[in-house]
Parts: sequence; structure tokens; C-alpha cells
Amino acid sequence: MSKEPVSHIGISLPPDLLDRFDMYIKQKKYDTRSKAIADLMREALMREEWTGGNVEVFGALTLVYDHHTRGLSEKLTELQHDRHDNIVSTTHVHIDHHRCLEIIILRGKIDRIRELGERMIGTRGVLHGKLVFAATDQPEA
Ligand code: NI
Repeated sequence: MSKEPVSHIGISLPPDLLDRFDMYIKQKKYDTRSKAIADLMREALMREEWTGGNVEVFGALTLVYDHHTRGLSEKLTELQHDRHDNIVSTTHVHIDHHRCLEIIILRGKIDRIRELGERMIGTRGVLHGKLVFAATDQPEA
């Protein structure tokens, strides 16, 4: 991979904020502050650009649920069939006797993807859910 050009900047910060940030990047296993700050900047810019709601994105939705919860599996399947145009693929893993893990890859307009993700996460009986959007704004390495 060729080395990307970089700009050097100096920024002034309150010391306690920097301390907390250093703890954060240690937790997140960043090698350098620069990488962590660049990621946060990209995230902020993306969020800004995406507030228009008309941008095409990919999303990965992770759900953990108890399949014994009455009607839950059916409800989640129904939601996915209703929105089959936004579903790329679904992987189902049986974690143990009760719990299932589902990873659903979504594609479409950001607003539709977010709404669908929130609806599934909010379905009664879902124990844990997280929707992550894939950044596609960076050039290929
Ligand atoms: Ni299962």
C-alpha cells in the first residue's frame, strides 16, 4: 500500500479532555491519537452528509434474541420479507438452547435502513441489537 499524504496540525485541548481521550483510544486499541481523531472526524462528516437521508449505504445489523419468545422469530422473518429489497443476506447462528444470533446485511437509503434496524432492535424479546453502517467514502487501498 502506498503511503497516503498527511497534513500535520496542532490543536489545543483542555488537559482533562485529553486524558479521557487517551483512555478511550487505549480501550479502542488505537496505535496513535492521529488514527483515532481521523476516525472520529470521518464519522462526524459522514453523519453530517447522511442527514439528508437519501444516501445509499450498507448496514450490518446484529441481533441476539431468545427464539422461545412467543411470535418473535415469525415477526423478525416477516419484517425481513416485507423489506426484502433492503436485505442482502441473513446469517443465523444458534448460540445455545435459547439464544439465536442473527447478522443481517442491509442495503438502501440510510433513512430506510436506520428505521428498519431500529424496528428490529426494538421488537419485543430482542435481547441485544446493534446497527453499524459501512463507510464507503474511502478510496481503495
Ligand atoms: Ni436459532
